[in-house]
Amino acid sequence: MTFFAATRAPREIVVGAGQRKALGGYARRAGARILIVTDEFMAGSPMFPDIINGLSAAGVEVSVFDRSLPEAPISAIDKAVELGKRTGVDSVLGLGGGSSMDTAKVAALLITHGGRPSDYYGEFKTPGRVMPLICMPTTAGTGSEVTPVAVIIDEAKGLKTGISSPFLIPEIAICDAELTLSCPPGLTAASGADAMTHAVEALMAAQRPMTADLTTSAVFVGKNQFSDSYALMAIRGIGQHLERAVKEGDNLESREGMMWSATLAGLAFGSAGTAAAHAIQYPLGAATHTAHGAGVACLLPYVMEFNAPTRRLALLQIADALGVLERAGGPDMRAYAAIDAIADLFARVGIPKTTREMGLSDEQVEWTATEALAIGRLVKNNPRTLGAETMHQIVRAAQSGDRLSLRKLAVLER
Ligand SMILES: NC(=O)c1ccc[n+]([C@@H]2O[C@H](COP(=O)([O-])OP(=O)(O)OC[C@H]3O[C@@H](n4cnc5c(N)ncnc54)[C@H](O)[C@@H]3O)[C@@H](O)[C@H]2O)c1
Repeated sequence: MTFFAATRAPREIVVGAGQRKALGGYARRAGARILIVTDEFMAGSPMFPDIINGLSAAGVEVSVFDRSLPEAPISAIDKAVELGKRTGVDSVLGLGGGSSMDTAKVAALLITHGGRPSDYYGEFKTPGRVMPLICMPTTAGTGSEVTPVAVIIDEAKGLKTGISSPFLIPEIAICDAELTLSCPPGLTAASGADAMTHAVEALMAAQRPMTADLTTSAVFVGKNQFSDSYALMAIRGIGQHLERAVKEGDNLESREGMMWSATLAGLAFGSAGTAAAHAIQYPLGAATHTAHGAGVACLLPYVMEFNAPTRRLALLQIADALGVLERAGGPDMRAYAAIDAIADLFARVGIPKTTREMGLSDEQVEWTATEALAIGRLVKNNPRTLGAETMHQIVRAAQSGDRLSLRKLAVLER
């Protein structure tokens, strides 16, 4: 394998319980007035007044937009931008889960460069630096605090879409696990499984030819040495901590393990990108209105089965990171033990095992596969070539819970 490594990251990443108190110092450096983008839940949480007081003590004036909405619809982004412009802010803080952080990212972009979100859809459309952006995640999580993408909903066009640019990477990421102690079990499971899916899809992603313009012509450049290292650390950590974080929500050690791992998973997919599970989640989420993390995680074991023949080494590495390598038999068994271990972990934390359980009707299966295939960037990043027939096979298997049909298919093909 050719040696190639590429990473994109915030200028500073701080991880540790209580580090939210560092916010004032960072915000002071960023400017005199900050726009906090958060949602009603966080604005009403007991930690919020301390965050505001910390900023005031650092001499930073604050404008609060506390109406960000799940999945970051443009209508909420517009209101955040309006407040930011009206109050003359010179930096933005995204405080919350992926929805609030993505709302903050696009708000910082529009306050800086003007225009509409649709001007920037796709890759590399952002013309230059955005105003200083700080992100403080309250779920563990999407990894948005370190990634070059914001995922938003365009209500007028009825689509979920992304804006990807290295300029959207927050300048500062402050990752304080104490902010996640209030996450209920379902949210902890879905957001933690989202992080696992980021790490696994990054580790199993396609590898691109190492051309001279690879990193300047694509935001997501495929599997590489940096993303592999981050992904494996993340998989190990999530394997160790997810179940306990879900079942013992006040266990700070597990919360810290999950926060650290989710940020690493964000760094992994922030350069490598994600693949088929995320492509299928776009129509699955639109059809079922279910949590993003639960959807990608439900799909992941099926996608891993499909990709197994081309990603044997990655599967052995995952099995090792999850501590199941020694338990299995020969190389085939060991590789498949990784998929079984991920599926078992997800089942233990309550992730639905089939898309039917997610609420997808049998009539929507063919439509889901067709729509997923249209998401070219993610389909191209899948390590094994996806065509109409194979995409339909994956979605049909996910609907009926028949993972073994994909395994048999892989065996027949070899
Ligand atoms: N930009 C990226 O890199 C990236 C990556 C993956 C996913 N995403 C996007 O992120 C969004 C999902 O984000 P999410 O899973 O973090 O959930 P979320 O931000 O949508 O929040 C879900 C719910 O959890 C609540 N919540 C958040 N923190 C909490 C806490 N500490 N305690 C109690 N409740 C809390 C929120 O108030 C909200 O009601 C989706 O829109 C998805 O597309 C973005």
